[in-house]
Amino acid sequence: MTILWDATAGGGEAYHFALGGDALHLTSGPRVSRALEDDPSHALVIIGPDIDLDSACNLAEEERVARPELGVILLRHRLDVTVLAQALRSGVREVVAADDQNAIAEAVRRSNALTAQLVGHGAAGGGTRDGKVITVFSAKGGVGKTTVSTNLATYLASTGARTVLVDLDLMFGDVAISLQLQPPGSVRDLVAMSGHLDAQGVQSVVTRHEPSGLDVIAAPPDPADAERVPSHVIVELLRVARANYDYVLVDTPPSFTEHVLAAFDLSDLTVLVATLDIPAVKNLRIAINTLDTLGASREARTIVLNRADAKVGLRPDDVEAALKAPISANIPNTLAVPASVNRGVAIILDEPRSPVAMALRELADTEIRRRFGEDLQNGAKRSTFGLLRSKR
Ligand SMILES: Nc1ncnc2c1ncn2[C@@H]1O[C@H](COP(=O)(O)OP(=O)(O)OP(=O)(O)O)[C@@H](O)[C@H]1O
Ligand SMILES: [Mg+2]
Repeated sequence: MTILWDATAGGGEAYHFALGGDALHLTSGPRVSRALEDDPSHALVIIGPDIDLDSACNLAEEERVARPELGVILLRHRLDVTVLAQALRSGVREVVAADDQNAIAEAVRRSNALTAQLVGHGAAGGGTRDGKVITVFSAKGGVGKTTVSTNLATYLASTGARTVLVDLDLMFGDVAISLQLQPPGSVRDLVAMSGHLDAQGVQSVVTRHEPSGLDVIAAPPDPADAERVPSHVIVELLRVARANYDYVLVDTPPSFTEHVLAAFDLSDLTVLVATLDIPAVKNLRIAINTLDTLGASREARTIVLNRADAKVGLRPDDVEAALKAPISANIPNTLAVPASVNRGVAIILDEPRSPVAMALRELADTEIRRRFGEDLQNGAKRSTFGLLRSKR
């Protein structure tokens, strides 16, 4: 149902024609928020011309993260550029003159059509897959997140699974450069498609890593663009991506940015990377506590120890004891890793028999492919996704 938020008692009648039927008429913002909480099936909120702009924008901003499929239309006595800019920035779909019944009716029709599309596809932008989102994270820099995420992603892609790797290290992302890619676009370009992102929109910014068949969505080339990417764009991207890929890998910066929190929220698995040093273990403990606080399930995370055989006084057992959690993979320390990055290749494909490639493959097979139901005996041909696997 449509909610009309209007300060005047007779508002419902004034817009009855334009709304094309019944609307729930509420006179205060908190009541609107409560009504939306109580009944998530509301598709549209129309905000009357006497509701002040800031309150209207606040509602739009809150709801577009909580439920991007909800439409918000703002009515104003006068339309000017400042109002338009502020409203659209906050996620209002359209701003319409309050006395133009036809324009309101048209805006309602467009908004409901968009909502139906988003709901019908589970905000999937046209896709039908049930892909898995896997976020690779560590709260400490330089521990091997990018190494792990690029290698896991290229390997999964090479098995024939449709795989995309999203670089959420928006300021200093180096996925593209470590795979020697020259991306035509980046996450930044998705901002303009916000609210109507679909598979085609995502395709317009991906770069194909030819040796594996992996699709990559690069971080913006200019670090200043990081703050121009609101987290709801990441939510929309990950939703569309998981409906169009089997695996969506996410590389992250070493901090809990709002983008990272959005990714955690949508992740089916979080791969936490540690190394054999006290600060890394301490930061991992903090990351685990944060995930607990966010209510993330413990089964949906796995801990990987990178450079696990480095002779530095701390042993893998010490790390497990400190974290009170098991380590699922030990990845050896070898100069072959930085050497592969410098050559722009993924070691898992380039030197498949090296101990580091074997450890990463074991991690991908056990913690990802088997966990998500792939039959590894016949894995290259068929998976639980019910899709024929063929390398594109
Ligand atoms: N197993 C390994 N053996 C040797 N060197 C490694 C290993 N894993 C990663 N490295 C090297 O450590 C450095 C940091 O790795 P990487 O870039 O993957 O870390 P990161 O966690 O993504 O860093 P940042 O936080 O800066 O994004 C790189 O030079 C990489 O080649
Ligand atoms: Mg990195």
